[in-house]
Formats: sequence, structure tokens, C-alpha cells
Amino acid sequence: MCGTSCFAFTLCITFLISGSARNAFEMELFPLKPTLHVGDALELSCRVNGCPVNVIFAWGTVVDRFHGGAAESNQTTSRLLFSNISTKLSNIIVCTASCGGTTRQKTSVIQVYSFPTDPVIPRIKHLKENQEQSLNCTVHNIYPLHGIIIQWLRGNKTIYTDEPVDISDYENVQNYSSVIRYTPSVNDLGKNLICKATLNLSSSNPMSRKTTAEYGPGTLTISSNNPLVQLEKHLNITCHADGNPQPRILWWKTGENNPIADGQKLVINNASLTQAGWYQCEARNVVGSLKTPVQVIVQGPPKNPQIQLKDGVDPIEGDNITILCSSDDEPKTLILFRKENRAAEAQNSSTVFLNILDVKLEDAGVYICEVKNDFGIKSGMINITVKETQHISMTPDLPTIIVPALGSVSLLTVLALLMRYLREAKRDSVNIGMN
Ligand SMILES: *[C@@H]1O[C@H](CO)[C@@H](O)[C@H](O)[C@H]1NC(C)=O
Ligand SMILES: *[C@@H]1O[C@H](CO)[C@@H](O)[C@H](O)[C@H]1NC(C)=O
Ligand SMILES: *[C@@H]1O[C@H](CO)[C@@H](O)[C@H](O)[C@H]1NC(C)=O
Ligand SMILES: *[C@@H]1O[C@H](CO)[C@@H](O)[C@H](O)[C@H]1NC(C)=O
Ligand SMILES: *[C@@H]1O[C@H](CO)[C@@H](O)[C@H](O)[C@H]1NC(C)=O
Ligand SMILES: *[C@@H]1O[C@H](CO)[C@@H](O)[C@H](O)[C@H]1NC(C)=O
Ligand SMILES: *[C@@H]1O[C@H](CO)[C@@H](O)[C@H](O)[C@H]1NC(C)=O
Repeated sequence: MCGTSCFAFTLCITFLISGSARNAFEMELFPLKPTLHVGDALELSCRVNGCPVNVIFAWGTVVDRFHGGAAESNQTTSRLLFSNISTKLSNIIVCTASCGGTTRQKTSVIQVYSFPTDPVIPRIKHLKENQEQSLNCTVHNIYPLHGIIIQWLRGNKTIYTDEPVDISDYENVQNYSSVIRYTPSVNDLGKNLICKATLNLSSSNPMSRKTTAEYGPGTLTISSNNPLVQLEKHLNITCHADGNPQPRILWWKTGENNPIADGQKLVINNASLTQAGWYQCEARNVVGSLKTPVQVIVQGPPKNPQIQLKDGVDPIEGDNITILCSSDDEPKTLILFRKENRAAEAQNSSTVFLNILDVKLEDAGVYICEVKNDFGIKSGMINITVKETQHISMTPDLPTIIVPALGSVSLLTVLALLMRYLREAKRDSVNIGMN
């Protein structure tokens, strides 16, 4: 019934109904899904192929204004140019092209973001174990704010994740501060504290920026808290500090004006007694400094003790004398004796003394003082000469001591006094003392 011409006619009618055969044009819009940073430039290009007449272009947005866009068109192409994109342009843009009586539309979805700088963490005085403190990390000029996630890390471990809530402004670039309460554990000491901000955009991969906090030394660890070294031996003490940047370590010795070592290790080679004493490890970085004391004990035999007569001159028979012995080293035992007879001993004391009342010629001779510690023994001696007097016996005889007692005391007391007298007479009035 209906042949080839009939079919062609039908097509022709169809074309006429849908517009016109000459308006079977094609349209391209580029780019379709741009992701741009605030301030970037953008060129949208809308091109038509196959329109025999001049094309009329129109650009539109969901909001009315283009916020700084300018369009340029010729017969086939229209370009919409932005030199400085703002967050207001985060939107759908529509290119409408009319060819003859026919119009077509294409849309481009623009994602604008702002994430210009690294997070900022104010310097932290220190991060001490079990000490809670408030930490702040601010990211400036973010857009869109609802896309941001703040992650706090200590070492590799996430300690906190923070996202903005209650966002009231969806239009502008904003700052965001994450404030957390943080209590470091002992395992965290020395590890980096990081604030990592991630901006998630629907149209592209997440973007991240991170900042490592600067903090002052908060904990000093010394390899040995009471280092002992034997005389002429070798001693190493290590001091380690947490902090970022890694603190510089200096060693000070009490009494010295300048550091005696620079670096984690304090090395004492061939220890001498003068190297004993208090040292300080000091850790410093741009944020702050911290010191901790440590006492170095040098162990060795004591020095020779000092032995002397208290009055300095040799006594005359009948004088009372005191022999003094002293030593500066500790801890030790001091013993003062005559020949083989131990006479006085002192523990943990710097002096020992021996009083001899009413000195006799037989008391003359060599007295020895020994000072002893776990590492050795040293001694000193003094040779005491007793000068004879023109002899009138000064020794009281038994009756002169006892007679005054007789009138008032019992026989028992007299006996006791008599026994003491005999004992004392035997030992030549030697008194033993110590302090
Ligand atoms: C129209 O502009 C586009 C892009 O600027 C260009 O490529 C094209 O040659 C121009 N066409 C005419 C007919 O001027
Ligand atoms: C871009 O626009 C912002 C505000 O919309 C303005 O502060 C900035 O100066 C502009 N930049 C340039 C290069 O024009
Ligand atoms: C963001 O922080 C910067 C620097 O502190 C400040 O100058 C700016 O005004 C802040 N912007 C907003 C939106 O608060
Ligand atoms: C260690 O010091 C002592 C005294 O200062 C010295 O006599 C000795 O030779 C030194 N030993 C070494 C190995 O340097
Ligand atoms: C010696 O000491 C005794 C008792 O303390 C005292 O009575 C005596 O006078 C003293 N002798 C001399 C010579 O100082
Ligand atoms: C001496 O001192 C040391 C350490 O101070 C102590 O261990 C010891 O018991 C003391 N010895 C005496 C007899 O006081
Ligand atoms: C102590 O001194 C006396 C008299 O000066 C002397 O005779 C004696 O030999 C001396 N003893 C010693 C051990 O030096």
C-alpha cells in the first residue's frame, strides 16, 4: 500500500512534527564535572555541530547570577569564562542552544572547594604521661565545611576523630578548630602528635593535609639513676628526651659554668674522685627546656686520714690530751688505736677521737688511724712524745678519794668505788670517745 516514497513522506512528516530535518544538531558541553579550588579560573565550552543557521546560546544556573562569569559566542561555540571562582558557583550550570526553532540543553555540575593550608597546632608545652590537656588544631578557609574530617594521631594510632556538627553556613569558606582533651599514655612518649585534616568531595578523591605538633620536652629518661663507677673505670650515662623537634641534650656539672657534654651520652673515662657529684641532663628545643639531676658516685679506696693532737704540741706528763682523726670520704669506718690495741672506732662519721686524761710516760708512742671502705683501707699515724715533769707525784692515793665518801655512804658504795678505782688505775685513765 505504501511504498518507498510513502515511507519517505512519513519520515518527512515526522521530521516536520519534531521541528525540522535541518535541526538534527548535536551539542557538547565541556567539562561536565569540574572540581575547582576557590579562586581558580574556569572555562565552560558549549559547542554545536550540524546546525545550518546561527545558533543562539544561553547560559543558566539554578541561582540566577554567574558570580563573575562572562560569555563569548560565535556561530558554533559559546564559552563561559570565570577568572576567580567563588564558593557560590558550586552549582549546576546549564547551556541552552537554539538552532532554528529547536533547543537543546546540557548541564555541567561544578564542585568548588577550598583547602588551602595545612592545619595549625599551637606549640604545646609538653605531653606528659597521664597528664590530661587540651589540644587545638585549626584548619583555615575550608569549603565545604561538611566535607572535613579531623583525625588526631599519636604515632600511627588514631586517638581522636572529629567532624563539624551543627553547621549553619553552607555557603562560605570557613575555619574549623578541633579541640580535644588528651591524656598521653606511657607508650605514647616520644611519638609524633599529628593533626590530619581530610576534605571529602563527592566529585573527586579525598584530599588530606597534616601537621605534626611541636612540643617541648616533658619526660627525661636517664639510663641509670644512681650511677656508680669505680675509680679509673669507665661510665656511660644516656639521657633521652621526648619532644618535637627532637631536643638537643646538654650535660651540666654542678659548679661548672658551661655544659660538659653535648649529646645524649655522658662519658666518664678513667673516673676520678673529682668527677663524682651532681650532674644535670638538660633537653632543649624550640618549645622549651627541661632538666633532671643525676648523682655520679665514684667508688674507690679512701684518701689518707688526717691524724693530729688537738692542741698541736706534745704533752707534758699529767696533761689531758685528745688525739683526733678525720677523713672526708664516705661511707667508711674510722679506727684509732695504739699499736695492736683498738681504742676508738666510728662508723659513717668523719672524725674519731681518743681522750687520754692525765697522760703518762707510757702513753707515748705511735697512734694509728685507719679509714676503711668497701674498696680499700688507708691509714695515718702520729708519734706522741710525753715529756717528763720534775716529779712530785700527782696521782691521788686511795684514801684521798675514798675518805670524803666514808662519812655519808654505806659500805657497799665504798666497795663499788674501790673496785672502780682499781679498774681505772689499771687502764691508766684512758677514755674512749667518738662522735
Ligand atoms: C568559534 O569559537 C571556537 C572557540 O573559540 C573556535 O574554535 C571556532 O573556530 C570559532 N568558530 C568560528 C566560526 O569562528
Ligand atoms: C577573587 O575573589 C575574592 C572574593 O570573591 C577576592 O577576595 C579576591 O581578591 C579575588 N581574587 C582575584 C585574583 O581577583
Ligand atoms: C579564619 O582564620 C583567619 C586567621 O586566623 C582569620 O583571619 C579569618 O577571619 C577566619 N575566618 C573566619 C571565617 O572566621
Ligand atoms: C687514669 O687516671 C690516673 C690518675 O689521673 C692516671 O694515673 C692513669 O694513668 C689513668 N689511666 C688511664 C688508662 O688513662
Ligand atoms: C684533766 O681532766 C680532768 C677531768 O676532766 C680535770 O679534772 C683536770 O683538771 C684536767 N687536767 C688538766 C691538766 O687539764
Ligand atoms: C652507714 O651508712 C650506710 C649508708 O648510709 C648505711 O647503710 C649503714 O647502715 C650505716 N652504718 C652504720 C653503722 O650506721
Ligand atoms: C717516736 O718518737 C720517739 C722520740 O722522738 C722516737 O724515739 C721513736 O723512735 C719514734 N717512734 C717511731 C715509730 O717513729
